[in-house]
This record gives sequence, C-alpha cells and structure tokens, in this order.
Amino acid sequence: MAGFSRNVFSSSVVVVVFFFMLSLTEAREHLVGGKTDSWKVPSSQSDSLNSWAEKSRFLIGDSLVWKYDGKSDSVLEVSKRDYVSCNTSSPIAVHNDGNTKIVLEHSGAYYFISGAKGHCEQGQKLIVVTLSEKHNMRGFMGAPAPSPAEFESPAIAPTSNAVNLKASLVVAFGVLMGFLF
Ligand SMILES: *[C@@H]1O[C@H](CO)[C@@H](O)[C@H](O)[C@H]1NC(C)=O
Repeated sequence: MAGFSRNVFSSSVVVVVFFFMLSLTEAREHLVGGKTDSWKVPSSQSDSLNSWAEKSRFLIGDSLVWKYDGKSDSVLEVSKRDYVSCNTSSPIAVHNDGNTKIVLEHSGAYYFISGAKGHCEQGQKLIVVTLSEKHNMRGFMGAPAPSPAEFESPAIAPTSNAVNLKASLVVAFGVLMGFLF
C-alpha cells in the first residue's frame, strides 16, 4: 500500500516536471522593439533595436512581428555584408505590408534593415541571434546568451546543433511512465 502511494506521488512529480519542461519549448512571438511603433530610426544608442534584441531570447520556431506604416517603410532581410554596409539593393526578402511576421527557422544570426532611404545608416537595423533548443536549456542553467555584437564581426556563425528536445522529452516521459506502472 505504501509502495502504491509512493508511486502515485512520484508519477505526479514526473507529470508536473514534464509539463514544465515542455512549456520551456513553446514557440513565442516577439514584437520587434517591444512596442508597435518601434520600427523607426532610434532616438539614441540605448534605444536601438539591437539593445532590445540583447534582452530577449530567440529560439527556433519563435517569430518576429513588425508593425509599421507600409507606405513609408519596409523590412528587408539581408546578408551580413549588406547589413553592415546598409546596402538595400539586393535583399534576401522584402516585406512592406505594415504587419510582417517572420518565423525563425534556423539557429544563428538574422539581419534586418529598413528599406526607407537613409534609415539604416541612422541605425534602423536589427540582428536577431536564434538559439537552438539545446542552447536554451544551457541558458536556462545559467550560461549567458551570445550577444548580437558577436555576429557583426567576421567570425563564422555557429553551426546548427538543434536537437528535438520536445521529442526526446516525450520519449523520456513515456519510458518513466512505463517504469512507474
Ligand atoms: C550593393 O550590393 C550590390 C549587389 O550585391 C552591389 O552591386 C553594389 O555595388 C552594392 N553597393 C554598395 C554601395 O556597396
């Protein structure tokens, strides 16, 4: 009888831990800059989009959302070189619908600049460093996230080492439940 209630208790703990871990892997939506009018020339360095990005954690599967006036501005996804030189002539993708959503599908850096004339030069640009779920768990244990500044240097972006954490949690959960009952 005592053995039975201990099993019930430990399996409840397993269930709680499982859903807690699963919640850490939920995809999130990030409003770029934190406010609906943030996609503009920043008023100061501390107000820049990259200082906002440094305070956030971006994971594979999360998405970025931009709100802006599509008649006067746009969001260009560009290469690192075009990001650095503010070259708007050959973007990877152009968005000018005023309500742009981009899903972060790979780990490493994404580079965005404004398509409005002169805006990128005045600081309307953004680097988003996407972490794999493995990185996220490590971050959760206390390791710092890489800062966007690291991705402005000529170093090679980290290779993708994404593991399907959600799938492994489901398997681990199944094994534990099988063990307990
Ligand atoms: C911008 O990029 C295009 C295409 O890569 C290139 O032909 C052009 O010279 C670049 N402009 C500047 C100012 O670097």
